[in-house]
Amino acid sequence: MIEYRLKKHPILPIEDFQEITFYWNKKPLKAKEGEVISSALFANGISIFGHHHKDKSAQGMFCANGQCAKCAVIANGIPVKSCMTKVKENMFVESVEGLPELPDVEEKPDISDIEEIETDVLIIGGGPAGLSAAIQLGNHNIKTLLIDDKDKLGGKLVLQTHKFFGSVEDSYAGTRGIEIGNLLANKVEENENITAWTDSIAIFVFHDKKAGILKNNVYKLVSTKVILNAAGAREKFLRFPGNTLAGIYGAGAFQTLVNRDLIRPTERLFIVGGGNVGLIAGYHALQAGIEVVGLIEALPKCGGYKVHADKLKRLGVPIYTSHTVLCANGEETVSSITITKITKDFTPIAGTEKTFACDTILIAVGLEPVNEFTAEAEKAGIPIFAAGDALEIAEASSAMFNGKISGLKVAKFLEADIEEIPHEWYEKAEILKSEPGAELPQIFPEQDKGVLPIIHCLQEIPCNPCITICPTDSIKIKDDPIMGLPNYEGECIGCGKCLTICPGLAITLVDYRKDTENPVVTVPYEVGNYAVEKGDFVKAVNIDGDILAKVKVVGKVVNKQNKTQLIRLKAPKEIAKKVVAFQVQEKSVSKPLKEPIISGLMDDDSMVCLCERVTAGEIRNLIKNGITDLNQIKAITRAGMGPCGSKTCDNLIRQIMREQRIPPNKVIKNVRRPVFVEVPLGKFADGKGGCDE
Ligand code: SF4
Ligand code: SF4
Ligand code: FES
Repeated sequence: MIEYRLKKHPILPIEDFQEITFYWNKKPLKAKEGEVISSALFANGISIFGHHHKDKSAQGMFCANGQCAKCAVIANGIPVKSCMTKVKENMFVESVEGLPELPDVEEKPDISDIEEIETDVLIIGGGPAGLSAAIQLGNHNIKTLLIDDKDKLGGKLVLQTHKFFGSVEDSYAGTRGIEIGNLLANKVEENENITAWTDSIAIFVFHDKKAGILKNNVYKLVSTKVILNAAGAREKFLRFPGNTLAGIYGAGAFQTLVNRDLIRPTERLFIVGGGNVGLIAGYHALQAGIEVVGLIEALPKCGGYKVHADKLKRLGVPIYTSHTVLCANGEETVSSITITKITKDFTPIAGTEKTFACDTILIAVGLEPVNEFTAEAEKAGIPIFAAGDALEIAEASSAMFNGKISGLKVAKFLEADIEEIPHEWYEKAEILKSEPGAELPQIFPEQDKGVLPIIHCLQEIPCNPCITICPTDSIKIKDDPIMGLPNYEGECIGCGKCLTICPGLAITLVDYRKDTENPVVTVPYEVGNYAVEKGDFVKAVNIDGDILAKVKVVGKVVNKQNKTQLIRLKAPKEIAKKVVAFQVQEKSVSKPLKEPIISGLMDDDSMVCLCERVTAGEIRNLIKNGITDLNQIKAITRAGMGPCGSKTCDNLIRQIMREQRIPPNKVIKNVRRPVFVEVPLGKFADGKGGCDE
């Protein structure tokens, strides 16, 4: 029987939980108390949550973040987003087959007073930027209300099992995202000027300068002098034939299932997108014992950090650059993906198609800011600031720093005599959001006695904890103190601290002190599902994942706090400096099928509006007929009129406009709904939250 709940994880604790019973289409199933319905369904091996009323296509998870509506189910008679609704004891959950019907309402909802709260600053979003901004405001004695739609503060940090880049001083470099989330959340909770509401969704910004918030399902009004939008980003969708099958979802959704809810939703995963999000998702999958069949990137080079890409390659995951998805194949859910090589101008090259069996395809092709709060607050005349991904898409380490800056900006806006924002903060913010820079060839040090670190970090990225941690000051950076490449020059004592702090797992230690012919190579390791013990033989690999030799494990150090294991390998001196890791995934996992599957579907068949089932061909035809107003397209096809309110398809329609060479100034914007998310009407009448209809 397939086990859909993680039983072990190298970083995350697996704790006992209280089991409850719920019903799925009348069948009793078990769930973990407090988890959301979608996770409870995945934990029972259910990934199809219903069928669309227009074309009967299977519906399932996409964003796991309340942004789309693909995961809708009916819970106790009411249509809900399964990723945002907690499962309850004896809850009756049904798949949505066709258009859901609302139950008859026999009674009027209770009309009760709506609570009104006053604050100086309302922060929407309790992720790295929102938390950092709140701390600044709280420290300046400014009354701050921070809200987040999840049940725990931390935003995307709670999904990050890997260590962060940047510097120790400015962005907790070398500490895992989940731990940073806890650290920041504790600071917020301890600050008496900050009130933090979890399970709280911003739904309106009104012209009388009030914001409507649904807190634990109870509607409240907040009067605020300033809003700070730190609501983060949503994942972009991608157009390709078959893109609507169940089993195709965002990398963030995957991380939510695996790292937050400890679900193992897939056996064989394929990733589309070689930015940091896709690369990290691949690593998280391996940590959870999931096979990663491959990763494709349309550009000739992955846009994410090389150290992230190297981690995947050396663990055995192939990365195909200059490749795109030709089609996803399967009846209702994904059974395989066909990829193809592309030219510089992204044209598929015939004859290069390959098909890989997989049950899940992750889309990691970029993020776009959640900026509807900003637009509405501007219209309402409420002073609005933004921070983190809602301001500019960048790494979480950068979001923390720009959140700090935005927090102080808001404080200064409210109280002019507050100190100036230090100039170096702006400089550091710029550095932390830097794109990866130049890549240099690896030059190994000549030293072949004593002990020394080998640094396999060959691309300029904003990161330097290896330098600050070394007790003998033996790792130096030339030129830029954070973007420059680290270099060993000094007296290593073999303490291993640089190995355990490095977020790229890009430093090894070669120790010749006991044996110069077969030195001991220590490698950092975090994939606990492939357990390694002293006496085992493993396939040592170089930075590109090429197997160098089979070598013996001669020791293992497990640091309970840090959780990065240090594995000691005995390697011949000829290869010792090249060994970066050992292979955990066999090459056979990534073998393509003998013959590629070419579905015959064209780009025009790709789905653009998932909610209303509108294809790329339908949109393109309208554009060719001169329609460049997104509202007209909506009126004709309903694209953008679905429950997600065009959050998923807007970007794809604009992409087709660009392909049809429509200048951006000729594209007329879609008028968005004033309500940010769907809310049962009764909630606005009943200030106690009793009414669900
Ligand atoms: S192993 Fe210790 S002493 Fe040697 S370079 Fe790393 S941190 Fe410095
Ligand atoms: S080697 Fe140093 S600079 Fe490179 S990823 Fe590791 S800690 Fe960062
Ligand atoms: S995808 Fe939701 S409205 Fe188009």
